[in-house]
Amino acid sequence: MQIVRGVEELRAAVKNSRTSGERLALVPTMGALHVGHMALIDAGKQSAAKVAASIFVNPTQFAANEDLGRYPRREAEDAAMLEANGCNLLWLPAVGDVYPDGFATTVSVAGISDRWEGEARPGHFDGVATVVAKLLLAVQPDIALFGEKDFQQLAVIRRMVADLNIPVEIVGVPTVRDPDGLALSSRNAYLSADDRQRALTLPKVLNLVAGQVRGGAEVGQTLNEAKQTLRNAGFNKIDYLALVDASSLEPLERPAGTMRLIAAATIGTTRLIDNLAV
Ligand code: PAJ
Repeated sequence: MQIVRGVEELRAAVKNSRTSGERLALVPTMGALHVGHMALIDAGKQSAAKVAASIFVNPTQFAANEDLGRYPRREAEDAAMLEANGCNLLWLPAVGDVYPDGFATTVSVAGISDRWEGEARPGHFDGVATVVAKLLLAVQPDIALFGEKDFQQLAVIRRMVADLNIPVEIVGVPTVRDPDGLALSSRNAYLSADDRQRALTLPKVLNLVAGQVRGGAEVGQTLNEAKQTLRNAGFNKIDYLALVDASSLEPLERPAGTMRLIAAATIGTTRLIDNLAV
C-alpha cells in the first residue's frame, strides 16, 4: 500500500495507478478504523481494480463544542488495518493540504441537510459536503463508498454529486454491527463498559419500533414510548427518533413507501447515531 500526504503527491500516485485504465474506488474516512470501514474497502474491491482510502479528521464538520480535539487518532494502526485488507493507496492530508491559506469556498446542500443531524449540529453538513467534494475532486475515483450508518450524510452526498455533476458513482454500504447489535463507530471508544451496555438499548429500540410500525402501530405514540425507553436506559439527551421517508428524509406520521427509522441520542457525553430500514 502506498501512503501519500500532499495533494501533488496524491495526484501523481493516482495517475500511476490509472495508466492501465483500471477503475479506482475511494473510501473517505476520519480514521480510528474498524470493521465497518473495512466493509467499505471490501465493497470497493468488488467493483474496482484499485482501492484508495483517505484519513482526514475534518475540522470544518465539528462545531466548537464538539470532539475534534479528542477524536481518536491512530495513524499507524489504521494504515496496518488498511494494508491487511487490501487497500492500495492511503491519502493522509494535513489540514493545510485540504484548507490552504485563504480558503473561502463552502459547498452547502440545501433541504436534505436541514433536519435531524443538520438541526442538531448546525454547519456539520456544510463541512462534510465541502470536504467530500474536495476529496472526490482530488482523487477523481470511479466510485466512492459511504456507510448507511450515516444515513443522512449518504443522502446529502448523493444530492451534491448529482447537483454538481461530479463523475463518480456513490455506493452505500449496510451498517456493520457488533454481535450484540451496537453499530460500530469510532466514537464507541469513548463509552465506559457500563455506558456501552446501556447503549445497546438504541439498536434494540430501533428493531422494536420497526416491528411495531410494520405491525400497524400508531407511529407518534410508538415513537414517544420508544423515547421513554431510551431515557429509562440512561440516554440523557435524545436529539431525534423519527420515522422518515428513506429518500427525502421527511418525517412520516403514518407508514408510506420506503421508510427508515433514524435516531441520535447521547449517553454520558457520547453522542450515538443509528438507523434501520423498516
Ligand atoms: P467516518 O465517521 O470515519 O466514517 C467513514 C465512513 O465509514 C462513512 O461513510 C461511514 O458511514 C462509514 N461507517 C462508519 N461506521 C460504519 C459501520 N458501522 N458500518 C458501515 N459503515 C460505517 O463519515 C465520516 O467519517 C466523515 O463524515 C467523512 C465522510 C469521511 C467526511 O469527513
